[in-house]
Amino acid sequence: MSQVERTFSMIKPDAVAAGQAGRILAVLEEAGFRIAGMRMVRMTQAQAEGFYAVHRERPFFPSLIRFITEGPVILLALEREDAIRKLREVMGATNPANAAEGTIRKQFAASIERNCIHGSDAPQTAAVELAYWFRTVDLV
Ligand code: RTP
Ligand code: MG
Repeated sequence: MSQVERTFSMIKPDAVAAGQAGRILAVLEEAGFRIAGMRMVRMTQAQAEGFYAVHRERPFFPSLIRFITEGPVILLALEREDAIRKLREVMGATNPANAAEGTIRKQFAASIERNCIHGSDAPQTAAVELAYWFRTVDLV
């Protein structure tokens, strides 16, 4: 049986600026996610480089840091059964051109970089990413 678990998500600056945050939150709630934490931040360069440290050797890293710091993001702690896997499913593929019909990226993303939403990719990264942005006592 699947366990109730928590995952970390983020509505990226492209979607916040485009006024798509509410519609993306509605898709997440309709997919059965409960919001356990939500906070808006404009990431500093240092916060962004720390958060995306696993990608620091990738060619797209400087561009990714510029993008993620260009405006406010909405940080989310999401809860449901099998949350980590299910969130990746409703997000769709990294590149919206490859994302399945009905997924968030298919609906709202513009490109492989400006792809509107983040979701942790494994239990270990979910734990690290939740702790990066939220204090456990602030999750409800
Ligand atoms: P995320 O971490 O945001 O949930 O996305 P993901 O797992 O689907 O993709 P990942 O490989 O972890 O890449 C992190 C983010 O970097 C940007 N990216 N740009 N220009 C490019 O080729 C490229 N590749 C990735 C995207 O914003 C991607 O979500
Ligand atoms: Mg990723």
